[in-house]
Amino acid sequence: MRLITAIVRPHRYEAVRDALSEIGVTGITASQVTGFGRQRGQTEMYRGAEYEVKEIPKIKIEVAVPSSLLEKALDTITKSAETGKIGDGKIFVSSLSGAVRIRTGERDEKALI
Ligand SMILES: Nc1ncnc2c1ncn2[C@@H]1O[C@H](COP(=O)(O)OP(=O)(O)OP(=O)(O)O)[C@@H](O)[C@H]1O
Ligand SMILES: [Mg+2]
Repeated sequence: MRLITAIVRPHRYEAVRDALSEIGVTGITASQVTGFGRQRGQTEMYRGAEYEVKEIPKIKIEVAVPSSLLEKALDTITKSAETGKIGDGKIFVSSLSGAVRIRTGERDEKALI
């Protein structure tokens, strides 16, 4: 299993969520976060305005997937989050050693599908 953490533009979040649902992802955690990338100190566009602040609002998406779905999920997130401009975001991938569906006690991949 893998844990995907994707930082995306807020206005792309719904597109990413819907695209992930279409490929069979059954759960997502989303949080409002702020952060910065390598252009720290330069301006970045957000909601049509140029931000000069260092931290820019983003959405952090966390999604746990069976390893067999990893490549498709990365491709799907990349395509649905991309605008081609600086600040499109970043995706991190970690190994996930366990999962439990609390209601049923199902473990690992059975808890993800
Ligand atoms: N190395 C990192 N570690 C943790 N979070 C990061 C890292 N790089 C970027 N982020 C997060 O991702 C968000 C978007 O980053 P961003 O897309 O600006 O990356 P970048 O490397 O500057 O790429 P680009 O040149 O396309 O802007 C940041 O606001 C921050 O929340
Ligand atoms: Mg950047």
